Amino acid sequence: MVSTSLFFLVILISAVIAQQQCVPYTSQFTFTPGEYPNIWSTPSTEVFNTAEFKQVNSSIKWSMVPNIPPKVMVNGTFVSSTYPATDPDCWWSYKLCVTPKAPGVNPDYYMCPEPDTWGLTYDDGPNCSHTQFYDFLKQNNQKASMFFVGSNVADWPNEAIRALTDGHHICVHTWSHPYMTTLTNDQVLAELYYTRKVIKYVMGITPLCWRPPFGDVDDRVRAIAQQLNMSTVIWNLDSDDWQMQPAGSFTSAQVDSIFQGFVDMGKNGTFATSGAIALEHELNNGTMSKAEQWYPAIKGAYKYVVPVATCLNISQPYAETNYTYQTFAQMLATTSNNSTSTPGGSGTSSGPNGAKSSTTKKSSSVSITSYISLISTVVIMLIAQLFGNLFQQA
Ligand SMILES: *[C@@H]1O[C@H](CO)[C@@H](O)[C@H](O)[C@H]1NC(C)=O
Ligand SMILES: *[C@@H]1O[C@H](CO)[C@@H](O)[C@H](O)[C@H]1NC(C)=O
Ligand SMILES: *[C@@H]1O[C@H](CO)[C@@H](O)[C@H](O)[C@H]1NC(C)=O
Ligand SMILES: *[C@@H]1O[C@H](CO)[C@@H](O)[C@H](O)[C@H]1NC(C)=O
Ligand SMILES: *[C@@H]1O[C@H](CO)[C@@H](O)[C@H](O)[C@H]1NC(C)=O
Ligand SMILES: *[C@@H]1O[C@H](CO)[C@@H](O)[C@H](O)[C@H]1NC(C)=O
Ligand SMILES: *[C@@H]1O[C@H](CO)[C@@H](O)[C@H](O)[C@H]1NC(C)=O
Ligand SMILES: *[C@@H]1O[C@H](CO)[C@@H](O)[C@H](O)[C@H]1NC(C)=O
Ligand SMILES: *[C@@H]1O[C@H](CO)[C@@H](O)[C@H](O)[C@H]1NC(C)=O
Ligand SMILES: *[C@@H]1O[C@H](CO)[C@@H](O)[C@H](O)[C@H]1NC(C)=O
Ligand SMILES: [Zn+2]
Repeated sequence: MVSTSLFFLVILISAVIAQQQCVPYTSQFTFTPGEYPNIWSTPSTEVFNTAEFKQVNSSIKWSMVPNIPPKVMVNGTFVSSTYPATDPDCWWSYKLCVTPKAPGVNPDYYMCPEPDTWGLTYDDGPNCSHTQFYDFLKQNNQKASMFFVGSNVADWPNEAIRALTDGHHICVHTWSHPYMTTLTNDQVLAELYYTRKVIKYVMGITPLCWRPPFGDVDDRVRAIAQQLNMSTVIWNLDSDDWQMQPAGSFTSAQVDSIFQGFVDMGKNGTFATSGAIALEHELNNGTMSKAEQWYPAIKGAYKYVVPVATCLNISQPYAETNYTYQTFAQMLATTSNNSTSTPGGSGTSSGPNGAKSSTTKKSSSVSITSYISLISTVVIMLIAQLFGNLFQQA
């Protein structure tokens, strides 16, 4: 009897704590149907038939987009048997091509040019349960490039705002996380356009970079992104953290050995002449735990761990010119290796201070309410248990 009550009590407390993690991210935004695609689904007629999309579509210079048919995927595998071995579309999924062949299409960013430098990137956020991870980065005064899924920004807008406020560099990671080369032109455009739109609505910025899910990009998709002023960002180190069990098939030890290899590379001269852009994820507890576990060793093995905006000297990474990020030279000037330097005082402004203070205020007042409700629930449970015991005795 007592043990069953305790069992339910533990379940209840964990539920309240889990819920509390999401509390600071209660949304004050409204997402009117028709203004965005359905959450986590490939954009379709719900947006294609709107005047807004037709207007965006007609602003695209389609003559500059190569006429490449969508790639075909069957049961999760690309059909590439009919694709020419010469890789005419510069299809990353085929042979990791990053230098476009179609005229006028810009090359991808896939590494930090600075030696001994780790370009820190996390994909697939935001998500209301990632507070602890964002706290970790903040405690380490560490900025990263965050590639946000549009549907997640709509679901968890206040975590998205927090990322910007904390000074992270925000890029687009599509609306519904598809294999982009399999989509029609309309779908590619909508995946990018509506993610950019929701980020602008929620965070007030217009990102100028994007990363294709699974790296799946070709010259057609690149050209459409380019028309939206977005550079394509790939990577040259893949932690494969997302493949870890239970979501994937890799063991924790396998992912550890991949990270260990990256640490070795940092020390053995692999990046002595140019650096890395590393792919990591804030996808789930496993990937965030690995990121935290390996962060100190990466910091030790590489001279600089920076968002890609910094290693590429992109001081204004948004269309809005009032956001400035550190260039590499500015980072060097403000990052002293004197232990007396104040964390957080890294110079250049990065976030909307208004948003920062209001978010903080909100989160603390709401979490007090949660504590009160937690405590009263516990008291009620205890009283209920007492009555239950009395009844049994009677
Ligand atoms: C977008 O424009 C292209 C080229 O003009 C056209 O073929 C396509 O049907 C348009 N899509 C929508 C949804 O209107
Ligand atoms: C795809 O998967 C389905 C169901 O598992 C199977 O029936 C079908 O044969 C598969 N198709 C191909 C081309 O492998
Ligand atoms: C791209 O940038 C140019 C130059 O800043 C601007 O005129 C244009 O409107 C932008 N296009 C889009 C789709 O944002
Ligand atoms: C550096 O370490 C990596 C990972 O262990 C290894 O693959 C590579 O061959 C090493 N390079 C040199 C120059 O020792
Ligand atoms: C949000 O994060 C939780 C915990 O990391 C994860 O289990 C869940 O799948 C995520 N949801 C989405 C939509 O990414
Ligand atoms: C992962 O889950 C454990 C156990 O619930 C928790 O202590 C830890 O803080 C979580 N890690 C992250 C990065 O959220
Ligand atoms: C960034 O700026 C530094 C210092 O001005 C310069 O040495 C470096 O080549 C620049 N890197 C890029 C990618 O522009
Ligand atoms: C480190 O601290 C010393 C003494 O406070 C100061 O003279 C020096 O300029 C600092 N170095 C850097 C790189 O900031
Ligand atoms: C630390 O300071 C020394 C001398 O000022 C400099 O040569 C070195 O590059 C610095 N290291 C880092 C990691 O900034
Ligand atoms: C930039 O300007 C916009 C309005 O134009 C404002 O909402 C935002 O807070 C500003 N951000 C910063 C960092 O100054
Ligand atoms: Zn992703």
